[in-house]
Amino acid sequence: MSKTVFILNGPNLNLLGKRQPEIYGADTLEDVAEHCRTTAARYGVTIDLRQSNHEGQIIDWIHQARDEAAGIIINPGAFTHTSVAILDALNAYDGPVLEVHISNVHKRESFRHHSYVSLRADGVIAGFGVQGYSLAVDRMGTLLQS
Ligand code: DQA
Repeated sequence: MSKTVFILNGPNLNLLGKRQPEIYGADTLEDVAEHCRTTAARYGVTIDLRQSNHEGQIIDWIHQARDEAAGIIINPGAFTHTSVAILDALNAYDGPVLEVHISNVHKRESFRHHSYVSLRADGVIAGFGVQGYSLAVDRMGTLLQS
């Protein structure tokens, strides 16, 4: 059976393509899913991309991943900078975790420079636009092969 990777997206990312395109670009989350599926197919991996504006929902999905996902790629949006609860959930997950940010958070406001999720992430991508998701899938495919 092929391995499943959850790609979890936090608040406001449902507006990708419409929200601040000068920062986040014109691609939608559906475009991201399409690119990720193409990359994942090279590794025989299945992508399950989800988005929620609610912290508790993201935590529930991380718990679900304990039984159902071989790895997690997560862009927690603004929860990156605030959520100890998402960090705790990820700390209760055994597989590889990769953190993605579309924008280069280190070039932006200082409150975006700290990530709770980075305390758990095995790798972090920031500032590669939506291409960062495909790069993360590439890395996840490699990690899951070894
Ligand atoms: C983001 C960066 C966060 O600071 C911001 O709150 C987001 C998106 C990114 O993908 O660049 O919502 O995670």
